[in-house]
Amino acid sequence: MRILLLTHAFNSLTQRLAAELRQKDHLVSIEFDISNSVTEEAVALFAPDLIVAPYLRRAIPESVWSKQVCLVVHPGVEGDQGPSALDWAVMGQQPQWGVTVLQAEAAMDAGPVWASTTFAMRQASKASVYRHEVTQSATQAVLKAVEQFASTSFVPQSPAHSQWHPLMKQPDRAIDWQADDTATVLRKIRAADGFPGVADTLLGQTCHLFDAWPEATLRGLPGEVIAQRETALCRATTDGAVWIGHVKRVGGIKLPAALAFADELSHLPHIRPVPLPDWWHVSESTWQDIAYEEAGTVGYLHFEFYNGAMSTPQCRRLQQALIWAKQRPTNVLVLMGGHDFWSNGIHLNVIEAASLQKGSAADESWHNINAMNDLALELINTPHQITVAAVGGNTGAGGCFLARAADQVWVREAVMLNPHYKNMGNLYGSEYWTYLLPRRVGMEAAKAIMHNRQPLTASAALETGFSDACVPGDVPAFRQAIQDKALNMALATDIQAQLAIKNKARLQDEAQKPLAAYRAEEMAHMHRNFYGFDPSYHVARHHFVTKSPASWSPRHLALHRELGWKKP
Ligand code: COA
Repeated sequence: MRILLLTHAFNSLTQRLAAELRQKDHLVSIEFDISNSVTEEAVALFAPDLIVAPYLRRAIPESVWSKQVCLVVHPGVEGDQGPSALDWAVMGQQPQWGVTVLQAEAAMDAGPVWASTTFAMRQASKASVYRHEVTQSATQAVLKAVEQFASTSFVPQSPAHSQWHPLMKQPDRAIDWQADDTATVLRKIRAADGFPGVADTLLGQTCHLFDAWPEATLRGLPGEVIAQRETALCRATTDGAVWIGHVKRVGGIKLPAALAFADELSHLPHIRPVPLPDWWHVSESTWQDIAYEEAGTVGYLHFEFYNGAMSTPQCRRLQQALIWAKQRPTNVLVLMGGHDFWSNGIHLNVIEAASLQKGSAADESWHNINAMNDLALELINTPHQITVAAVGGNTGAGGCFLARAADQVWVREAVMLNPHYKNMGNLYGSEYWTYLLPRRVGMEAAKAIMHNRQPLTASAALETGFSDACVPGDVPAFRQAIQDKALNMALATDIQAQLAIKNKARLQDEAQKPLAAYRAEEMAHMHRNFYGFDPSYHVARHHFVTKSPASWSPRHLALHRELGWKKP
C-alpha cells in the first residue's frame, strides 16, 4: 500500500512507524501538518491508500478524512478522548494504560476503533512513557490496524463507552509546596514533562519546572531551595525533598536549572553545594547524573543526561569519570547512557542560551564539540578494557558516533538511531565520524548514511554494520541481557588476546592516519559551520530549540515532493 504519514514532526514514534511499515513493503511518504491546503496537496500528489497520523496537534481537515480512511494514534485506552490523555494517566496514577488507533471523524478521538493495545504503567515522566510504552504499543496497534484495513472485511466499531477528558491546564498541575509531599510533587512534574512543565515560582522567579527526582536525605522548609548539585537544584517538600533538573524561565528556553538560575544562585551562598564524593552509584534516593557500578570484572558507566543532550561541562565530567573508570581493575567497560536516550550530541539549548545571554553561540558550539571529541578520544584510547556502548535509548547525531567510538555497539531492538548531522543546518559533524564510520560500513555506505539522513532501526544498524548486536526487550530486560553478555565477554579465556589485537589495530590505524588528522579535517568543516558566512546551523538550531512549527516537509522524507515524482 501507499501510506502517507501525516505528522506534526518526524519524532521517534513517526520514525519507528515509517521504518516498520517500510519493512512490511509499504511505500511510505511523510508530510508535516502545516496547513489544510498543504495536507490536501500532499494527498493529491501521493494518492495514498491510507493515511496514518501518529502525532498531530490539530484535527485532520474534513476535506481529507471525508474522502478516505485516516487512522489517528491516540495515546489512551479505548473510549478515552481528549488532548491530554497521557498527562491525566500519569497524574491519576493509572495502573494500566494504552494506545488506540481510531478513524478520524468530525469529533476528536470519537471515531471507530481499528486497533488498540494496553500496557502496564511505569512510574516515570510522560515523555519517558511516550518514548517507551506508548511507542511500542502504537507500533503494534498501527501494524495491526493496517493489516485490518488491507483485509477489507474488518469493520471498525465505536467503543461501548467513551469519556471526554479536557485539556489539562496549569491550575490542574499546580504544586502547593506547603501541602504536597514528595510523591505528589514528583507526580505533578512528571505528568507535565517534557511539555508544558509545571508553572511555578523558583527563587522568586516565575518559571516552568521539569525533570524531577526524589531526594531521601536533605531536608528544609517546604518550598525552600536547599541545595545544588552540578546542573540541578534541590527543593524541600513537606516530607523530604526533590531535585529539579530543568526549568524554563518566562520568555526563555528549557535549561539546566543551575544554569537558568546562575545569577540568583551566586547571591545565595547559604544554598549548600552537595557534591558526590566520587563516581560510584550512591542509591536510587538521590539525583546522580553520572554513576558507576561494577560486577566481577565488568564496569558500567551510566550517564543520565536529560534528553541525551551533553553540554561542555557534562562532557568534561563524563570524561573525568571515564578516565577514572578506565583505571579500575576491569577488562570490560560498558557505557550505559541514560534510560530514554543514550546521547543526542552537543547541548543545543545550552548553546542557544549562550547567544541569548549575549555570549557567542559559535564559541559555545566550538567548546562543546571539542569537549565531545575529547570524550570520544578518551573512549577510543582505552587499552585495558574492551569497551561497549549499550544503547538502550534513542541516540542521534554526535551521540551515535560517541557510541561508535566504543569497540562494540549493542543496541536495544526498539531503539531508533540517527547517525547523521545534516538535519541541523547542514552540520558537517565531528566526534571522529570520518574515522569511525567508514571502517565499519565502507566509504560508500558511510556517504549514503550521511547524505540520506534517514533514521536507522536497531536491526538496520546491525545489517549495515554500524552496530554489533541487536538485543530484544524493554529496558530492564535489555540491561539484564547486557550484563550477561558483558560478563561472558569478560570471562572469555582469550580476553587478553582480544585486547592485544585491538591495541595493535589501533596502533596500525594511527600509523596510517593519526586521529588528530581526522579531527583537524572535521573541525575545519565545523569551524565554517559555526563561524562561516552560511548561518544555516545557527538558524536550524534556533528553530529546533524554540520548537518553531515546520513550514515545509523536507524532500528526503516527502517522496511525493521529490523532483521527478510521478503520481501513480
Ligand atoms: N540538545 C538539546 N536538546 C535536545 C537535543 C540536543 N542535542 N536533542 C534532543 N533534544 C531535546 C528536544 O528538544 C526535545 O526537547 P523537549 O523535552 O523540550 O521536548 C527532547 O530532547 C526530545 O527530542 P525529540 O526530538 O522529541 O526526540 P526524538 O526521539 O523524537 O528525536 C532526534 C530524536 C535525535 C532525531 C532529535 O532529537 C534531534 O534531531 N536532535 C538533535 C540532534 C543534533 O543535531 N545534535 C547536535 C549535533 S551533534
